[in-house]
Amino acid sequence: MSAYWRTFTVLVASFALDIRAVSSRQAPAAFSNPESSAVDYVDPLIGNGGDSPNGSGGMIPSTAPPFGMTRWVAQTRQNYVSVTPYNYTDSNIHGFQGTHQPAIWMGESGQVVIVPGVGDVKPAFEDRGMPFSHDKEVITPSYYSVYLDAPGGGSILAEQSATSRVGHLRFTFENTDTPYVLIEATRASVMGSADPSNVTYPSGSVSIDPSAREICGRNPERQDFIIGPNPAPSFAGYFCARFSVPFESYGTANNSDGQLFQGENERNGTQLSGYAILQRGTSMVDVRVGVSFISIDQARKNLETEIPDGTSLEQTAKAVREAWAEKLDRITVEGGSIENKLVFYTAVYHTLQYPYEQHEDGKYYSGYDDAVHEGESYTGYSIWDTFRAQWAWTILFAPERVNGMVQSMLQDYREGGWLPMWKNIVETNIMVGTHADSLVAEAVLKGFTGFDLETAWEAVYKDATVPPVNDWNTSYFDREENVGYEVRAGLSSVYDVQGWVASDVHSEAGSRTLDYAYDDYAVSVLASLLNKTSEASFFLNRSLTTPFSIFNSTTGFMEARNANGSGAGQDAGWTEGNMWAYTFDVVQDVEGLVKRRGGNISFIDFLDEHFDGGHNDHTNEPSHHIPYLYALAGAASKSQERIRSIAQEYYNSSVNGLAGNEDCGQMSAWYIFSALGFYPVDPVSGFYVVGAPFSDKVVIELPGIRKSLIVASPGAPTCPYVRSLTVDGASITTPIIHHSQISQGSMVEFGMSQQPESWASTTLISIESGTNMAVHEEL
Ligand SMILES: *[C@@H]1O[C@H](CO)[C@@H](O)[C@H](O)[C@H]1NC(C)=O
Ligand SMILES: *[C@@H]1O[C@H](CO)[C@@H](O)[C@H](O)[C@H]1NC(C)=O
Ligand SMILES: *[C@@H]1O[C@H](CO)[C@@H](O)[C@H](O)[C@H]1NC(C)=O
Ligand SMILES: *[C@@H]1O[C@H](CO)[C@@H](O)[C@H](O)[C@H]1NC(C)=O
Ligand SMILES: *[C@@H]1O[C@H](CO)[C@@H](O)[C@H](O)[C@H]1NC(C)=O
Ligand SMILES: *[C@@H]1O[C@H](CO)[C@@H](O)[C@H](O)[C@H]1NC(C)=O
Ligand SMILES: *[C@@H]1O[C@H](CO)[C@@H](O)[C@H](O)[C@H]1NC(C)=O
Ligand SMILES: *[C@@H]1O[C@H](CO)[C@@H](O)[C@H](O)[C@H]1NC(C)=O
Ligand SMILES: *[C@@H]1O[C@H](CO)[C@@H](O)[C@H](O)[C@H]1NC(C)=O
Ligand SMILES: *[C@@H]1O[C@H](CO)[C@@H](O)[C@H](O)[C@H]1NC(C)=O
Ligand SMILES: *[C@@H]1O[C@H](CO)[C@@H](O)[C@H](O)[C@H]1NC(C)=O
Ligand SMILES: *[C@@H]1O[C@H](CO)[C@@H](O)[C@H](O)[C@H]1NC(C)=O
Repeated sequence: MSAYWRTFTVLVASFALDIRAVSSRQAPAAFSNPESSAVDYVDPLIGNGGDSPNGSGGMIPSTAPPFGMTRWVAQTRQNYVSVTPYNYTDSNIHGFQGTHQPAIWMGESGQVVIVPGVGDVKPAFEDRGMPFSHDKEVITPSYYSVYLDAPGGGSILAEQSATSRVGHLRFTFENTDTPYVLIEATRASVMGSADPSNVTYPSGSVSIDPSAREICGRNPERQDFIIGPNPAPSFAGYFCARFSVPFESYGTANNSDGQLFQGENERNGTQLSGYAILQRGTSMVDVRVGVSFISIDQARKNLETEIPDGTSLEQTAKAVREAWAEKLDRITVEGGSIENKLVFYTAVYHTLQYPYEQHEDGKYYSGYDDAVHEGESYTGYSIWDTFRAQWAWTILFAPERVNGMVQSMLQDYREGGWLPMWKNIVETNIMVGTHADSLVAEAVLKGFTGFDLETAWEAVYKDATVPPVNDWNTSYFDREENVGYEVRAGLSSVYDVQGWVASDVHSEAGSRTLDYAYDDYAVSVLASLLNKTSEASFFLNRSLTTPFSIFNSTTGFMEARNANGSGAGQDAGWTEGNMWAYTFDVVQDVEGLVKRRGGNISFIDFLDEHFDGGHNDHTNEPSHHIPYLYALAGAASKSQERIRSIAQEYYNSSVNGLAGNEDCGQMSAWYIFSALGFYPVDPVSGFYVVGAPFSDKVVIELPGIRKSLIVASPGAPTCPYVRSLTVDGASITTPIIHHSQISQGSMVEFGMSQQPESWASTTLISIESGTNMAVHEEL
């Protein structure tokens, strides 16, 4: 068996490389070092395509190490909320952008763009673009290269790698006119909404020191500034670029009208660039670009620390590839198609990008109080998405980051007064609920204590008890401008009315009611871990009572209500979902929900109606846990079937292979857990619901754990159903496993089958045999 699988794996691996060579060229040998088939299975293009911003993963083929502060990407268009800097359909590259845009529906902040060129210096975006072809791109997590057609003939080979805070670029000029490199500090920026005609003009600076071969500068652009409560007035991205060759001449430039200020060393302003013309005949230039949120000096220091003088691009790329291999080589997938492996490893790669480092040199800029502090900080927290599974996966697979990530949230609380909701450098108030409560509680539940527990309690307790300012007269609708911290908008009516968020006072009131109830549950979990028994029971009670305050027993659906108790209608009060998805949004009390929906049989019918009626929308998060609910009603085989079909329909290795926004790793975390055969339906409980794995075998070396976590499921690629399950030899008959059964390594063995089996499917059996018809209650 094992010999067979070894041979098979080798064949599959070499076939995979062939397949990848079709879509993008293979990296030259110097950039495939160290060898790692796991890293070779990552295709950073997956999730870039899609015919609309909502129908796309919104991912970019960027270069950076895991959790890197700045990701570098070829710039094919100007990015803003709803537009990424690289779009696969484009045919020109306008530069190489050090981006901090974390997701397609968020704004850019403090970016810098490095633009190679030849002949006359052309600073304007439209003028500086050069044609390229996807056949001439090499795209890997650690190295990117492309050939650009140079104006006037010849070509520019542009190559790129990057450490967390330093971009490393190299341009090779082949048969071209005189080369130059332009660095864009500021641009006309599309603000707030996705309306490209709505522009502002951030004012920054460039300074050029030809003797040090440096161009440095500052860019205060922060496209999301309009929606958050923190003005962060001194926020800026700083950069310091150092060149490997001397400047023949240099100057500053205006990207708007193309004007050049030849010989000028310094300028402040909007639409500003600096440039260096290289000596005629220069065939190659290496440019390292230190990036910082603190200062130009810090950017220079980051450059000298992470990519010191004399470091070759090959050396940088190797170190970055090693960083990816250190993570990805921990997972071995046996069996299953090449397609599955490309999707799986790319999913892992996506999850290891968020949240990302905001600290540098033991310090960080905080936009919450506009000051620099000592410590570690992270940004890119899309918590309404990531609390579902991305966080559980981070805890399992990147535990070395967890204390720092929680600590970072507690710093945000100390400096700004609240835990983050959606932190894009600073708070943006995007989405609803204070699911940071869940992140903190889940971390503590799973044994992380490297932060101040009393501060953690104080912060989540505040979320659960203090409404935002002007709660009764502010709607806090999505992306509402000029409001304070949104946190649990409508909490006043949860207290003062009968337990729900009033739909005639607040936007998204149905979703809020249900999400706050889950957050209360998280608070109760943390309270009990801290032995705060009366708080634990208070919040547990509220978490079990609140959801059903909007359950309409006449229709069997969750329906938002107004302050006076009247119904707000079935379509009102939802965010990124509808009453179908949200009726299932009671993960802390599925049993209570099943009871109200008339018992197991009736609940299974309801799930069938949900899926067969086309109501499950896997492109959005409220649907993610729903296929797993069958198992909790005694119909595990139906969960198995739905999970496999969602994985096939919504994930593939094409550029369009992520049908919904990646949302900082949540789409991918769903896939990873589902591929392993279990999913954290109720994350803060520590329990996973069992689905059905996709491969013959997955072995994971969990960081810091001696024993491997092995999921053995021979035949799974063609057998989607589960016949039996054991963990370390002990038989499991209910479709539930606890974190502690996997977190220290264990052998999880699935017996797989081609047809539905009775395992954990007692309700289905009783339906088939007719024995349970008596308890099939009507609603
Ligand atoms: C990429 O560009 C195409 C053509 O302009 C557009 O239809 C598509 O929505 C864009 N993709 C994304 C993810 O924005
Ligand atoms: C796309 O998603 C955004 C943000 O989630 C939302 O506001 C918008 O309504 C969606 N648009 C469509 C056409 O679904
Ligand atoms: C531009 O966007 C800002 C922020 O979203 C908004 O306040 C302003 O009304 C918009 N202006 C126009 C002309 O659309
Ligand atoms: C740019 O602005 C900074 C800060 O206001 C100022 O100190 C500097 O003198 C300005 N430089 C130029 C060239 O105007
Ligand atoms: C560039 O030109 C625009 C007008 O097109 C002007 O508003 C801006 O201040 C200029 N920027 C610089 C750096 O000269
Ligand atoms: C809400 O009420 C507060 C306190 O009365 C008042 O200061 C604020 O302006 C009101 N806000 C709105 C949007 O009406
Ligand atoms: C809570 O109580 C248990 C049992 O008495 C004890 O072991 C544990 O250390 C306590 N935890 C805290 C955070 O005080
Ligand atoms: C919650 O508390 C109320 C009032 O004390 C009590 O009537 C109710 O039974 C409790 N509900 C639950 C689910 O514990
Ligand atoms: C209850 O509130 C809704 C929404 O504000 C309103 O339309 C309705 O007339 C009110 N009903 C009563 C009985 O006051
Ligand atoms: C419950 O559903 C019925 C039937 O659609 C409707 O008339 C009623 O207003 C709803 N009640 C609430 C509180 O939503
Ligand atoms: C519903 O199914 C679950 C899972 O099999 C089981 O634990 C529970 O007892 C069932 N409930 C009833 C009322 O049969
Ligand atoms: C990949 O998935 C996307 C999104 O679900 C779909 O549109 C596309 O047709 C699929 N492509 C292939 C080759 O299966």
